[in-house]
Amino acid sequence: MKNMIYKISWVGVFGLLVIPAAMGGNPILKEGEPDIKAPATQAELNGSIEKAGDAACEERMQWWREAKYGMFIHWGLYAEPARGEWVMIDEKWPVADYAALAKDFNPTEFDAAEWIRVAKEAGMKYIVITAKHHDGFAMYESEISPYNIVDATPYKKDPLKALSEECKKAGIKFGIYYSQAFDWYHPGGRVPRGGAWDPAQKGNFASYFRDISIPQVKELIERYDPAVIWFDMPSGMTDDYCGEMMTMVRGLNPDMIVNSRLKFSGPKTSVLNEKELGLLRELGVDYLTYRDREIPEEAIWRDWETCMTLNHSWGFTADDHKWKDAKTIILMLTRVVNMDGNFLLNFGPTAEGVLPAEAVNSVREAGAWLSVNGESIYGARASSLKKVKTFPAVKQGKRLVKPEPDVAWLATERPASKQQPAKIYLNIFKWPGSQLEIEGVSDEVTKAYLLSDPERKPLKFSQNGNSISVDLPQVAPDPIASVVCLELVTR
Ligand code: GLC
Repeated sequence: MKNMIYKISWVGVFGLLVIPAAMGGNPILKEGEPDIKAPATQAELNGSIEKAGDAACEERMQWWREAKYGMFIHWGLYAEPARGEWVMIDEKWPVADYAALAKDFNPTEFDAAEWIRVAKEAGMKYIVITAKHHDGFAMYESEISPYNIVDATPYKKDPLKALSEECKKAGIKFGIYYSQAFDWYHPGGRVPRGGAWDPAQKGNFASYFRDISIPQVKELIERYDPAVIWFDMPSGMTDDYCGEMMTMVRGLNPDMIVNSRLKFSGPKTSVLNEKELGLLRELGVDYLTYRDREIPEEAIWRDWETCMTLNHSWGFTADDHKWKDAKTIILMLTRVVNMDGNFLLNFGPTAEGVLPAEAVNSVREAGAWLSVNGESIYGARASSLKKVKTFPAVKQGKRLVKPEPDVAWLATERPASKQQPAKIYLNIFKWPGSQLEIEGVSDEVTKAYLLSDPERKPLKFSQNGNSISVDLPQVAPDPIASVVCLELVTR
């Protein structure tokens, strides 16, 4: 860890390897592991991925890179039929029938302080909530369209206002999701899958974009001062439309973080070429939102995020009970940090305004783990020790694949700073018994300890070249994952 500027190299089918630039070689591989080629030249090291944004982008991204873990919330009228946020199009509801849901939408149980308390206890550092999803209904008081929670429901209150205030109090960053092109209520909004099914949806997209999309994003920024604007489903978003949106956004708030779904989404996200990545930079986009519910095997941009469901749905779905447990959450989060990304984990609250209890239990348990082991996550980065070959994607519906259950351990790192030495964190998911053997530690280890030990008593270890052997307690201290921290001096 002589020079802690990380460079990322492509390693073909074997996924991503992150190498401290000055290490100049491969970590030693154990038998049976693929031979990952080290990058040959500095030019190779300076690939597109490491191309950071401009100085303003670097500045904006500071808190986001530190945060690593956020709460996503899909909440809207669709919570009432409770069959997910695509119910309107899936079942081709006539616009007037769907809009009539508003008359009964009365989330009297909604408690913004409670939601933010859950985020805090979960260890989440930011939230992103649907201000307007594809159904076109605004979950805030909009002057642009009366089709909103204050003007069209008996509830008459503005949950985004309440949440943004609670976030401020709690020191949690407030982010807004906005469907900038899909809109199945306002005429002219894009409608996928064969287009409009109700004459009420017919109209001109240019007018829709000018009269609804741009002005609603503008009022959201002016009113709620979000730290992130999270666009989604860029159907027909030409470079001009994207440029217009970004000019307005940056004009109002130069510090706001903007995701890549302004322009690209879906499968495309994993195969963006240099030119497309360049276009995103030119537009002023800050980070790449990866494909839904997938942890990539390769990262293609310096800053990226994956969004994940806690069960299999985004919007509340009454018969979806397949909840992820705390261990799965921590495994996924560690894996994402292990590849330098951020993890946005979704809740689909009920029409009454309640976060599903099973989801809350899982994230609270994961939060308790983070309160002990969070040092290995927040502000941590990818590690040169990462030896995961591939990590099966976690996909939707029929394509769902479970995360790799056999990961023995994953490493993250932190460079040396004025306050502390360089560190490697070994997040161990499968406890090896009384001894852990690791290869590829090129720097001198000065101390090893468990993050769960409040006294941080040194564990016995021996180092021989790049190999290190650490004595451990026979039984794992933590059933989710136990973290061994190695402190280092550079050789
Ligand atoms: C997809 C879906 C949408 C959901 C989003 C979350 O884009 O269309 O319903 O909000 O994924 O990332």
